[in-house]
Amino acid sequence: MAAVESGWKVVGLDNSATRVAELNRGHSPVEDISNDTLSSALKSGSYKASSNYEDISIADVVTICVPTPLDEKKEPDLTALRGATISSAPYLKNGALLVSESTSYPGTLRTEVIPLVEKNRPTGTTQLFFATAPERVNPGDQVWNQKNTPRLVSGIDKDSHDKAMDFYRSICDAVVSVETPEIAEAAKLLENTFRLVNIGLINEFTKLCGPAGIDVNKVVAAASSKPYGFMPFRPGVGVGGHCIPVDPLYLKWWANQNNLSSPMVELAEKTNTEMHKYVADRALKLMAPKTQKARVLLLGVAYKAGVSDVRETPVSHLRQHLIFLGHTVEWMDPLVPTWEKTNPTNELNGFDVAILAVNQPGLPISELQGMGTPILDCTNSFSGQSGIQTL
Ligand SMILES: NC(=O)c1ccc[n+]([C@@H]2O[C@H](COP(=O)([O-])OP(=O)(O)OC[C@H]3O[C@@H](n4cnc5c(N)ncnc54)[C@H](O)[C@@H]3O)[C@@H](O)[C@H]2O)c1
Repeated sequence: MAAVESGWKVVGLDNSATRVAELNRGHSPVEDISNDTLSSALKSGSYKASSNYEDISIADVVTICVPTPLDEKKEPDLTALRGATISSAPYLKNGALLVSESTSYPGTLRTEVIPLVEKNRPTGTTQLFFATAPERVNPGDQVWNQKNTPRLVSGIDKDSHDKAMDFYRSICDAVVSVETPEIAEAAKLLENTFRLVNIGLINEFTKLCGPAGIDVNKVVAAASSKPYGFMPFRPGVGVGGHCIPVDPLYLKWWANQNNLSSPMVELAEKTNTEMHKYVADRALKLMAPKTQKARVLLLGVAYKAGVSDVRETPVSHLRQHLIFLGHTVEWMDPLVPTWEKTNPTNELNGFDVAILAVNQPGLPISELQGMGTPILDCTNSFSGQSGIQTL
């Protein structure tokens, strides 16, 4: 949509027929793009969704932004990136610029994408251009978006670089020229590893403060008064989504390929992944004494506030742990219609404890307070209110 707004004619190519049909009906699957924005782009003829790779044959610029998840061994799974590259390559027109936007380890453009294009490109093409420009979006963010977030760009050679800089200058307010694609790819991993490690630190800090009766959120607020050298991170149930829990493991894998290790990533990942046990323990301590088999209400199950995305949500681990301990778990999230093959509850009566995992809009906090249900607020949104404890 940023490219549409800048006057480009855009085809959104996707191998999911359902996704393509949904888009062409004007239904946006992305929270930050309204149906109205999508519909007017469709109506003006400046955008269409398609699953026909032949549409690439008229494109001056092809950006690949497919998922780069982990496989069952928690290692990089480049199936979609390789698949999209192989499917696009035969249709690239002479002089086209191909940009890899998907997050991956350093060297992905040079050693994965380009060789696959070279192998599958049309024989008639004399020149193609290649660049990387890692996607930087923060779903649900009201301030920072695709347009106003500075974009890292690096081409494989000077001409590729210049073409990519021109394209991103046309759709972003600020473009940052980076010397090599590997630096841009590594920078993306650093950004998200920085978050993982700092969230891990604050989660560890939370476990140290709790037993001492110190509210960690008040500690973070106090430390934040320092105008330099400190940046606040908040404790929570863990980390979720398809970036923070995933990207640092690309870094770890890449380090291992080079016979190196990344112990800080591993420790932060372990700390965050185990945080749900501390949360469960704190919540169960709020119940009436002698409650053996509790009814627990989870409030907010998406991976973060303001989104419906449940991928990698840490609330899953919390739910499974509570069930493993023998408790009954129900949940509510106004943005999530179904989750883990279960439906949300409409009932507020009879819960021994509620855990506010993610502060989604429209949760019945005051109703639960009125009913005297103890609430553990993992989001520090209702600090100091009656019946509510923070982490
Ligand atoms: N979403 C974010 O918040 C975010 C932020 C920064 C970076 N990223 C990175 O951007 C990339 C894309 O992430 P996403 O969350 O938008 O992914 P996504 O899971 O929403 O998938 C995007 C689309 O790609 C389609 N797709 C999958 N395989 C395909 C193929 N072979 N050919 C064509 N289409 C295919 C899917 O059907 C889907 O509609 C990832 O590398 C991710 O790490 C995402």
